[in-house]
Amino acid sequence: MKIIVADTYEDMSRAAADFSEKYIRNKPDALISFPGGNTPLKFLEYFTSDESNKTVSVSRSSFVQLDEWVGIGPEDEGSCSRFIQDKLLAKLSHQFAHTFLFNGKADNIDEQLDEQNKFVESYGPIDLSVLGIGLNGHLGFNEDGVDFSLRSHRNQLSDTTKRIQDYKYFNNKKLNLTEGITLGIAQIMEAKCVLLIANGSAKQEIVRKMITEPVSNKVPATVLKNHKNCFVILDKDAAAGLPTKLRDGGEIK
Ligand code: PGA
Repeated sequence: MKIIVADTYEDMSRAAADFSEKYIRNKPDALISFPGGNTPLKFLEYFTSDESNKTVSVSRSSFVQLDEWVGIGPEDEGSCSRFIQDKLLAKLSHQFAHTFLFNGKADNIDEQLDEQNKFVESYGPIDLSVLGIGLNGHLGFNEDGVDFSLRSHRNQLSDTTKRIQDYKYFNNKKLNLTEGITLGIAQIMEAKCVLLIANGSAKQEIVRKMITEPVSNKVPATVLKNHKNCFVILDKDAAAGLPTKLRDGGEIK
């Protein structure tokens, strides 16, 4: 795992956009996955602006959505598919060759999972999986206790995710969502390259755990230490809990 520490949130986002663009320039038909949430907002701004300016093209690439809340759909404020529509797809001057988005409101959620799984099988394995990290160390909706061998699946949300969801993503509306659907750890670990981004002091402790504690499904992100080609880009605040020798970046084997 290679750790890169940028000074600010903007610098972290710029570095993540440069990294992703370089990856796609080297492999124009890549299958990529970007996360929803607050962390990637600026990264997506930089990425889509560069795409419009023709620094990178995604017209031969494919995109798979990482995760979704069960119970809200593509039209709903706060859904991950709406986020991807608004912050990524709507800003691109040319669309991806193939795109998979979830509908968390579909009658048959299992069908959604089957479709995602098949999409990854057809266009994958994933080349570049960009991830955020939850306060409990979740990756997508792979919550604490998740079985690392699972592929696309439906999962109970952790207490931490349930506690923060309303104020963080839904403008304090009480949606009481209890489940998520997500790419599984197996598909993430099969990705040719993983890039995890995290910023802010709220992420300090979980970033420290991911990097310094043994691999365990109690903190799902620790599994990334077993990935052969994993990069972590942090801002200084998120890196502040790391051992001194890693605070400016470095590599752990
Ligand atoms: P955030 O979410 O970027 O909104 O902090 C990350 C996550 O929960 O995976």
